[in-house]
Amino acid sequence: MEIIDNSGSQAGVHSINSFGLFVPDIDEAQRFTEAFGLDVTRSGDELQLRTFGDAHVWATVLPASRKALAYLSLGCYAEDFDEIGRQVIAAGGRAAQAPAYGDAGGFWFHDPDGNLLQLCVARKRMPDGKAELADRSVPPGIQGACFRSTAPKVHPTRLAHMLLFTGDMPRTVAFYERGLGVRVADRSGNIVAFTYARHGCDHHLIAFATSEHGRGLHHTAWDVPGIEGVGLGAEQMRNAGYTRNWGVGRHVLGSNYFDYVRDSFGSWWEYSAHIDYIPKGIEWQGGDRNPEDSLYLWGPSLPEDFVDNSERHPRQ
Ligand SMILES: [Fe+2]
Repeated sequence: MEIIDNSGSQAGVHSINSFGLFVPDIDEAQRFTEAFGLDVTRSGDELQLRTFGDAHVWATVLPASRKALAYLSLGCYAEDFDEIGRQVIAAGGRAAQAPAYGDAGGFWFHDPDGNLLQLCVARKRMPDGKAELADRSVPPGIQGACFRSTAPKVHPTRLAHMLLFTGDMPRTVAFYERGLGVRVADRSGNIVAFTYARHGCDHHLIAFATSEHGRGLHHTAWDVPGIEGVGLGAEQMRNAGYTRNWGVGRHVLGSNYFDYVRDSFGSWWEYSAHIDYIPKGIEWQGGDRNPEDSLYLWGPSLPEDFVDNSERHPRQ
């Protein structure tokens, strides 16, 4: 297959390294993230979120008066760091001071929407290939389902992607393409756009949805090994009292099976399984899709508040 680079950038990030999240109630955030199946460590009024069996801190949850994305840290290879930094400035990024709550290293900047980002040299967290779907049939004569009373707790294996609201889709997509070297896999006009990293990546790493209120965190997605994990995850959150969800269903763009659970602060947390994968060197044959073909193939009706941006920031 022909290798094409139409992003206009010379270098690109490979992974989401971590993110920071402001919430108005740390106790509640701890209850939610533990119920979700993450490995949560509390230090004073801060939470560190890991996936079990991995020392990497995917997220830091910090106290604040309102829910908001505190920062997004993107990882790159050492040889690409300087070039991406130059691309970010050339594309309109504004250099920023490292915040007191963040890692002082790397290159901190604001994107055109006002999000605080960090570029850092980091291990590639995005897998190098597509995982096998864990769901398996069993031979005749054997019960395939486990008992409800002994259902295992679902523990996501990694942070998969994020969806951010933007007040200006064309400006934002152009910035992330030219500055950070991601590419658009698929989009639906200026409603939603899905971008992927060039070094071998899920169908989307960072997605954007237009909001009249500008920037904001819509959801973070966490990978589970199969449809059973998505369904059991939805069930464990219902049992924990988190009944506002959307799923189980299957997306069209990305093809992943999903269940979204809304936290108490207006963010959604997605269990995601079997998302499409774009190998390194392959240009995804995506396009501009009708809205009807952009959201889901099957699943429950969309909750009315699913695309509400609960954050309110000054427009940039
Ligand atoms: Fe998602």
